[in-house]
Amino acid sequence: MKASSGIEMMVRLERGTREPLRVQLERQLRDGVRSGTLRRGSALPSSRALAGELGIARGVVTEAYAQLAAEGYLVASQGAPTRVGGGSTGADAVPLPAGEPRPPRFDFRPGEPDPALFPRAAWAGAIRQALREAPDARFGYGSPCGVPELRNALATYLGRVRGVVADPETIIVTAGVTQGLTLAGRALIARGVRRLAVEDPGSVFMRGPLAALGLEIVPVPVDDGGLDVEALDAGGAEAVLVTPAHQYPTGVVLAPERRAALRAWGGWVLEDDYDAEFRYDRAPVGALQGLDRERVIYLSSISKTLAPALRMGWLVPPPALAADLRREKHRADRGSALLEQLGLATLLEHGELDRHLRRSRLEYRRRRDTLVAALARHLPHARPHGAAAGLHLLVELPGADEAELLRAAQDAGIGLEGLSQHTIAPGPPAVILGYGCIAEPAIEPGIRRLAELAGA
Ligand SMILES: Cc1ncc(COP(=O)(O)O)c(C=O)c1O
Repeated sequence: MKASSGIEMMVRLERGTREPLRVQLERQLRDGVRSGTLRRGSALPSSRALAGELGIARGVVTEAYAQLAAEGYLVASQGAPTRVGGGSTGADAVPLPAGEPRPPRFDFRPGEPDPALFPRAAWAGAIRQALREAPDARFGYGSPCGVPELRNALATYLGRVRGVVADPETIIVTAGVTQGLTLAGRALIARGVRRLAVEDPGSVFMRGPLAALGLEIVPVPVDDGGLDVEALDAGGAEAVLVTPAHQYPTGVVLAPERRAALRAWGGWVLEDDYDAEFRYDRAPVGALQGLDRERVIYLSSISKTLAPALRMGWLVPPPALAADLRREKHRADRGSALLEQLGLATLLEHGELDRHLRRSRLEYRRRRDTLVAALARHLPHARPHGAAAGLHLLVELPGADEAELLRAAQDAGIGLEGLSQHTIAPGPPAVILGYGCIAEPAIEPGIRRLAELAGA
């Protein structure tokens, strides 16, 4: 007798309703992940088996699995069962507070700068100054787009450092790129956009909120030149989310001919410029926005340069969407916190952020060098990518079983991510190693331990 997956107990499909079977299946599986009924890491039945159990066409299950993988609820890898992922796409998937999580012994988790480098004294001084000097009238609702001091300082900073052409009047201060993307997604949906192309691989944390808004996610492959713009053209999307200066997670830079092709493409471009300030041994690459102000929505934040915990970022809209985005920010939260905005404006105006970046760049470069050397020594068959910039490496591990290695790494106290978390179409076995948080002396022993687990 064929073993039953038990999912048919959870899924109740109704025929003859207005909601298509695929949408019903997606919704119920998504709810299952959110509620914990489908446990993280557990294997789902094959699309053929589930289709058989539910008495529906296999294509319906394949499509539902693909959409949920795009949203991060499921993880698909070649030759292995589809598994329940972290469900890391919506606020409702975030676990309840359970005290401060302990960092892993070897902390290669990507995505964060070193909190020990945060310029506390400069920040404290800037916040004290804001409290002392801001008149009472400033403590009411201000502009939803942000205080003029910060928008002016950002326009100057972004022009100087990133080649962004920004009118301070239209800049919107956000709670990070994540909020910026949600605002942009809402504004685009209101303009009739339905299909959003994303880089594959690309950050699941960034496409997740957009998928959750109901946008259909269209994966577009990434190669050594960055996003494949020809494939984008063929995909029929009206907007695309890209990381041109330092593709996440591969680290490639969008090639000049691809930039030109993207301009010619004509859809809306969401430019996630998340870590451009960290560049070690390659020439600076300006933001796309500087070349195309009409179609690019530029997004960035201080999550890599200062700290993600401050939840601060900004968005530079194209003129045609400025009013729409202002409306969305007003609807979302009526504006960002006053004192932090004034504090950041002071840091920018006084050159404190530049000073902080100069110091931290030196430190991260040292860690990067140590990591690259440790990989060459202990994992000589590994293929590291993206070492020239940013705070992480993508490391291909030919022949490795990525899921198995991640499990073993977790047990051994090594924090890292697998590439499969961020892919839609299955990719090669690979891990993403961040060097923002790990202290330099821990890098070599951490990689030695990882190599033992990988059987190298
Ligand atoms: C690709 C990418 N974009 C943006 C961000 C920053 O997001 P936020 O500004 O919301 O913290 C990150 C953080 O890790 C990232 O990996």
